[in-house]
Formats: sequence, structure tokens, C-alpha cells
Amino acid sequence: MAPRHQAPRGTRDVLPDETRRWRWAESRALGVLERYGYAEIRTPMFEDYELFARTAGESSDVVQKEMYRFTDLGERELALRPEFTAGVLRAYLEHGLGGRARVHRLWSAGPVFRYGRPQKGRWRQFSQLNCELVGSPAPGADVEMITLFVDLYEAWGFRDLTVLVNSVGQPATRRAYGEALRGWLAPVRTELSEDSRQRLEVNPLRVLDTKDEGDHALMRKLPKMPRMIETLDAEDRAHWDDVLAGLAAAGIRAEVDDGLVRGLDYYTRTAFEVHDRSLGGQSALGGGGRYDGLVEMLGGPPTPGVGFAIGLDRVLLSLEERGLETPAPETVCVVAMDATRATATSLVRELRREFTVEYDVEARGFGAQMKAAGKSGARFLVLLGEEEGARGEVALKDSKTGTQQTLRRDALAGALRTRMAPTGEPR
Ligand code: HAM
Repeated sequence: MAPRHQAPRGTRDVLPDETRRWRWAESRALGVLERYGYAEIRTPMFEDYELFARTAGESSDVVQKEMYRFTDLGERELALRPEFTAGVLRAYLEHGLGGRARVHRLWSAGPVFRYGRPQKGRWRQFSQLNCELVGSPAPGADVEMITLFVDLYEAWGFRDLTVLVNSVGQPATRRAYGEALRGWLAPVRTELSEDSRQRLEVNPLRVLDTKDEGDHALMRKLPKMPRMIETLDAEDRAHWDDVLAGLAAAGIRAEVDDGLVRGLDYYTRTAFEVHDRSLGGQSALGGGGRYDGLVEMLGGPPTPGVGFAIGLDRVLLSLEERGLETPAPETVCVVAMDATRATATSLVRELRREFTVEYDVEARGFGAQMKAAGKSGARFLVLLGEEEGARGEVALKDSKTGTQQTLRRDALAGALRTRMAPTGEPR
């Protein structure tokens, strides 16, 4: 019989097999963030609809088609967050963080919501790991951000990803560049997809971001695309050159992609993304950039910033497809007899302060316990036989080395500790 309820379209349950991989990925990331000196900030999962509408850009897909917008019982216009940046900067302003320190390094992680057509790598509820460096206009801040971005992927074991970078200039430069793009696309305008024709009217840069293969084929036939880099003013150009030099100095392999435009409107100057082409259409594993006008857009003082978000679901999907196995902790299985059950109960509690311990709560017979221990793949078996129990001893069996020894109960933890393999590295 089919279950009465299923998870809503575009959402999914992460079952125990998978949550272990998620936790591993999260803890690897946390280590990197701590070493870079980033502090966590937690903001609400919903905010005023206006906050997102204003910052993401009225013509962006996020605002036009993807917002989970609702009115609550108090008639407030709200939306589930489609991204973190707007909420983090709203909090930054609301709590006057700018007055407490010149530069803030902030990270957040959790679910975000976008109403798109679900497909491989695209969900309506997905998780982002988001980082912001607020308060510095220096190219060094962009370099740190991109380096952190790359180091996070490296901590998950990726070695072959290429970071694409571009400079999207300032809104005025972008308008001029948009005009140049309109001219460039004019010969094929009527053949473009409906979506791209609309984008050409409202925000021509977005045409470059189209997922329509036909549009890309048309663009490939056109003479050379005008380059945004060539329309940058002297200051933006100098910033861009410094970012590229900094990335080279940091040993980051970045590829300049003239066609890289981001799906959100608040970016200025540096923009970057990383893709895993083997995932198909939804290949962006993460992206970000500088947003020097965003805090002002929210009514705050001029405050430059740069940040990125990584789509954790796609990272996990990609790791899974690459066959990455996350290490499971080595476990200890305690097997008791009727006469030693009470001793075992107290021993198990003690061992669990330090080790992962399996123990049969159903008080089944010796044979059933041994069978379960074999099935679970526990490395160590601690046998509490009647005779050993009476002498204050236990038998420790190491299934990896095939050895067995009898030792005093109070020496057990020490013996386990010295034999246990350190965990943490992916296999
Ligand atoms: P974004 O490029 O819109 O940037 O999203 C970042 C990442 O989230 C994408 O590269 C992708 O991996 C993942 N993602 C987006 N939509 C979906 C989806 N429907 N299903 C699964 N994964 C998805 C931002 O959100 C900016 N706030 C990043 C930023 C922070 N810029 C400055 N600071």
C-alpha cells in the first residue's frame, strides 16, 4: 500500500546512511572555517519578502519565479529565504556589527528554498554553506574568499575543480555592457528562446546565463562576444588585476570566463563559480562575488563585502558519484551472558564516554549476540563470560588482527585506545 503522505515535491529525506556523509562533510568544512577565523551567524529561515525582492533584483529568476512567498496570520508579507546574504547583511545592520569591528568574517549553513522545476541536482529545499567577508573593499579580501572557497572543496577531497572568475564591474558599466550585448545579439534576436528574448529586454546579461542549448548554439555562430573586462573603468580594472595577481600568488588555478554572470543582481566587480560538469545541467557547486552596494541598498552606510555560497546537496551528490566513502568509526561490541548482564550494562555506559559501543538491549542469547556482532562489522568484541566476569576480567577480541587476550576490566579502555585507528581522512 502506498504511504498516505510523501515528502513535498522538490524536497527529500536524508536517511541515516546519508546523514553520516553529511556530518562528515560539515565537520571537515567547520575545521577549515575555524582555521580561517570565520565566526558563525544564524539568521531566521524567513524574512520580509521585500528584503529578498530588493536585493536579489526584480528581474532575477529568484524573485520572478522562485520565491516561497506567503502572508502570515498577522498579514505580514514574508518569504522563506532563497539565499543567506540578504539576511546576514540585514542582521549585520540591525545589530550594528559595523561599529564593533572594521571587518567581519561570517559563515552560516542551513536550508534555503527556491521554487524551481526539480531535477537532478536541483531541489526546492536545499542546503547552503555561506560565507561573507564584510567591511573590506581590498582585492586581498576577494583573494581570501576565493582561497577559502577552494580550500573547502579540497577538504572534501576535490582536486580537479576549476574556479571560473570574471569581473562584472559596476551597475553603470553593466548597463553599457548590456547595450553592447543587445547589439551583438540583434542578428539572432527573433530565434532566441522565449525566456532569452524576455531577458534581452529586461537584463541582457542574463541571456549569457541561459540553460537553453539552442541559444548557446546561436551565440556560438555569432562573431566574437563583446568582453565585459574591456568595458571596466580604470579602478575596476586595477582591482581585477590585483585579484588575479593575488590568486596566482596563493596558488589558485582560476580560469577567466567572460561569460560568467551571476543569477543575483547585487554583484559588483569580482564574480566566481565552480562547476562539476559531470553532474549535467545543474553543475554549479558554488558561487559568489563582491557586492559593494548591497548594504546601502538596505539603507546602511557604504559597506563593501564579498562572499559565496556552496550548494551542499550538489557537493554530496558529486562526492557520491565519485565513490567517496566517509570513514565510519571503529566500533566495540560488548557481548554478555545472563550472569554478567549487570556488569556489562555498567561497562557499556563507561565505554560509551569514549568509544562507539554496540550492545544488545534485548538480552538475547550468546549465539544471537555473536551473530549480530559479526553482521555489524565491529572491530572489537568484548566478551563477558561467567568465569571472566567472576574474576573481574574480560576477553578482548580484535577482528582485524585475529588476536584475543584476557585482561582486567579496568585495563580495557587503555587497550582499546592504543589499538584504535585515528579517524577523519576520507578513504
Ligand atoms: P547562488 O549561486 O544563487 O549564490 O547559489 C549558490 C549555490 O547554491 C549554487 O552554486 C548551487 O550549488 C546551489 N544551489 C542553487 N540553487 C539550488 C537548487 N535549487 N538546488 C540545489 N542547489 C542549489 C547565492 O546564493 C549567493 N547568496 C552566494 C553569495 C554569498 N554571494 C555573496 N555571498
